[in-house]
Amino acid sequence: MSFHRIGILISGRGSNMVALIDAAQSGKIPKAEVAIVISDQPGAPGLIKARERNIETIAIERLARAREEHDREIIAVLRAKQIDLICLAGYMRILSREFTDAFRGRILNIHPSLLPSFPGLDPQKQALDQGARVSGCTVHLVDETLDGGPIIAQREVPVVEGDTVESLSARILIAEHQLYPEALRMVLERMAR
Ligand code: GRF
Repeated sequence: MSFHRIGILISGRGSNMVALIDAAQSGKIPKAEVAIVISDQPGAPGLIKARERNIETIAIERLARAREEHDREIIAVLRAKQIDLICLAGYMRILSREFTDAFRGRILNIHPSLLPSFPGLDPQKQALDQGARVSGCTVHLVDETLDGGPIIAQREVPVVEGDTVESLSARILIAEHQLYPEALRMVLERMAR
């Protein structure tokens, strides 16, 4: 039985990464193995959580390099690890064209809004500022556009009276942790056909 080898890219807390690792390790995502977690931030708390779950980690900092050069090092690691699907999970960098070309159709991201509404930074604040009654989260394929690639799955989350960015973000995050593993499972099932 061959396993899909998943690579996860993070920059911070890594709670979506944990949801994906736990789902793969418990068999909720069949035939999937998280083979590497890469962070552009050496101090990302998510790196410790990955190691606690026996996942190999590596920090690849951008330093003073051009985006392309940084991405080239990441692509080389992903290739060396024979990764066939990449999940961005709170990875706070825009991928270069070289990166999206190298793994076209095989990079997923999760975004805390119902895209195409509220792309980019602070989507929960955007939802509150616009007076939205409903927001949510989206798993989509990553291409050259900012949060604009084809949508794989979405989940609605209500905005309630008196919500703050913190309370809305926390409610959406619960939905993210359910949606991302489900979406990954769907994508892998389609790939296996
Ligand atoms: C999540 O809200 C995700 O949707 C967004 O960044 C946040 C990352 O949180 N892209 P975590 O690192 O997964 O805890």
